[in-house]
Amino acid sequence: MLENYPKRLERYKRLIEISRDLASTLELDSLLNRIIHAARDITEAEAASILLYDDTARELYFQAATNPDPMMRGMVIPMDSIAGWIVIHREPVRISDVRKDNRYFKNVAQTLSFQTKSLMGVPLITKEKVVGVLEVLNKADGDFTETDEDMLTVLGAQAAVAIENTRLFQQSDLIAEFVHELRTPLASLSTATYLLLRPEISREQAEQIISNIHQETIRLNALASSFLDLARLESGRVQFNKSSFPFQPLCQECKGVLGSKAEENHISIEINIPEDMPIVAGDRDKLKQVLMNLMSNAIKYNRANGRVTVNAGHKEKDWFFSVSDTGYGIPEDALPNLFQKFYRVKGLETKATGTGLGLSICKQIVQGHGGRIEVRSKVGEGTTFTVYIPR
Ligand SMILES: Nc1ncnc2c1ncn2[C@@H]1O[C@H](COP(=O)(O)OP(=O)(O)OP(=O)(O)O)[C@@H](O)[C@H]1O
Ligand SMILES: [Mg+2]
Repeated sequence: MLENYPKRLERYKRLIEISRDLASTLELDSLLNRIIHAARDITEAEAASILLYDDTARELYFQAATNPDPMMRGMVIPMDSIAGWIVIHREPVRISDVRKDNRYFKNVAQTLSFQTKSLMGVPLITKEKVVGVLEVLNKADGDFTETDEDMLTVLGAQAAVAIENTRLFQQSDLIAEFVHELRTPLASLSTATYLLLRPEISREQAEQIISNIHQETIRLNALASSFLDLARLESGRVQFNKSSFPFQPLCQECKGVLGSKAEENHISIEINIPEDMPIVAGDRDKLKQVLMNLMSNAIKYNRANGRVTVNAGHKEKDWFFSVSDTGYGIPEDALPNLFQKFYRVKGLETKATGTGLGLSICKQIVQGHGGRIEVRSKVGEGTTFTVYIPR
C-alpha cells in the first residue's frame, strides 16, 4: 500500500521535531516516555514500549510502555524472545502476527490485558553498544511498512544517543556531589591522624580520637554503599524482582534489626497491620530497604521515650504503608527538599548520623514500583511518611 505524499511528509516533520525534543531531555524516565509516544505516533501503532539491555548481567528488561502496567516494569525478558533476537542480531524485525512466531514471549501477553498482533522492533545502538529495544505493536490498519521501519530506525538511533546522554549526565552530576560529600569526612580523618601523632596527646585523648576515626569510617562506608545503590537506581539499570508476599513478617524483620537501636533510646515500635491485610505485591528486598530507612529515620529523629508506629492497608487502587514517629518534626520549608540527594535538615544533623541519601533511595524504589511517597510533619509533634503502591 503506497502512502500519500502529504501524510508521509507530516510524519517526517514529526520525526524531526521529536529529535530536537529528545536532545534536550536529561531525565531518563521522561525521555523514555517521549520516545515511546513518538514511536507510537509516527508508525501509527496502537502501543509502544522500550526494553533496556544490561550488558553486564546480559539481561533484557522491560522499562516503559505507552499503556503502562506497573507489574511489567523491570520484568526480565528472556533472550530467546523477539526482543532478545533483536539485541543479538542487531537488526530490526517486522512481524504481521506474533502469535505465529515461536519467539514470542507469552508471559508479556499474560501479564498485560493487551492483545498483540503485529509487531515491529529496532535495536537501540550507540557506539557499537546495544542499550535496548524499541517496539511498536498493532499497526492501526494492515501491517507495518518499510517506511514505518525506516522511521522507527531513525527514531531509534536518536533515542539510543539520548538514553546514553542521560546516563552520562546523571553520573557526572552524582559523582560531583559524591566527591563534595567525601571532602568533609576526609578532612576530619586527616586532622585526627595529625593530632594522634602529636607527642603531647594524652592516652584518653588518643582513645577519643581513635573512636572518632572509627565512627567516621563507618559513615564513609555507609556513604559509599548508599551512593552505589542510588547510582544504580538512577541509571535505570536496576531490576525489580516482583513477587507476592505477606507484609506483616517483613515489618517484624525490620523491627528485629532495629529493635536494639530503639531500646537504647527507650523508643517503642508498634506494628499495626490489619488482620485482613492480604498479600501484597512488589520487590520484597527493595521494599524492605524502604521500610528500614523510614523506620530507622523515625528512631533516629525521635525523642527519648518516643514511639514509632507502622500502619498498612488499602486505599482505592493502592496498597500503602506508613511510618509515624513522635519526634522533632520537620519544618515546613524543609519538606520540599527532603527527597533531594545529600539533603539533611539543619539543626537535626547533630541528633543522628546519616548520609542524606536514604530518602532519595526510597523515592527511586517507590517510583520504580509506579508508586509515590508522601510526608506530613508538625514541628514538635512528629512525622509520618506514607508509601502508596498500585495494586
Ligand atoms: N522521621 C523524621 N523526622 C525528622 N526528620 C527526618 C525524618 N526522616 C528524615 N528526616 C530528615 O530528612 C533528612 C534526610 O533523610 P534521609 O533518610 O534521606 O537521610 P539520613 O537519615 O540523614 O541518612 P541515611 O538515611 O542515608 O543514613 C534527615 O537527615 C533528617 O534531617
Ligand atoms: Mg535515613
